[in-house]
Amino acid sequence: MFPGGYVRGKHLLLNMQGDYPFTLQRGSVVDLLGSMSSYNHDLRGHAERVCGLCMPLALRMGLAGKRLLYLELAALLHDVGKLDVPPHILDKPGILSLEETLLVQDHSLRGEQTLRSVSMPERICRTVRTHHERFDGKGYPDGLAGEEIPLEARIVQVADAYDAMTEDRPYRAAMPPEVARCWIEGLSGAYFDPEVVDCFLRAEAV
Ligand SMILES: [Fe+2]
Repeated sequence: MFPGGYVRGKHLLLNMQGDYPFTLQRGSVVDLLGSMSSYNHDLRGHAERVCGLCMPLALRMGLAGKRLLYLELAALLHDVGKLDVPPHILDKPGILSLEETLLVQDHSLRGEQTLRSVSMPERICRTVRTHHERFDGKGYPDGLAGEEIPLEARIVQVADAYDAMTEDRPYRAAMPPEVARCWIEGLSGAYFDPEVVDCFLRAEAV
């Protein structure tokens, strides 16, 4: 489908000409990405970087065709539910209160609802809902474990964590990439699917 590999920032779906191979509310996607750009200084940037990490990883994990296109959108929109979290909470430099934490954690469900409201394909909605599950079953919102979590979400989890670790946050400075890779490796099997981690680390080490 893309002989030259995936080019970061050149989104497959949004650049496709002619008929989509499935129903997609393209206008809704563009609107949502626009809202993310203006809502929070890094919501869109984080989404783009996560997408850029996910796509080559997904190719190496054997995803192809429609599943790959769906993953691209899911990665771009994985945090769209944060549009429902007040900006002062997203940018809070200190520790969040319990109420604030629950509000932030609710973004995976809110994101799923947003995408369902614009008739996004089921696989994309499901990936967004499950992107904060953990491989050991201690994540949210449903406490799914292992392969109960869609592969697409297991891929987004690793890319999401790596980008979060290697970028500055209001409450901490960015980690060097090699330190982030150590963290990802250390959390393999607990937070992350070991197969996805192996694939990610092998490629990132090149
Ligand atoms: Fe998230």
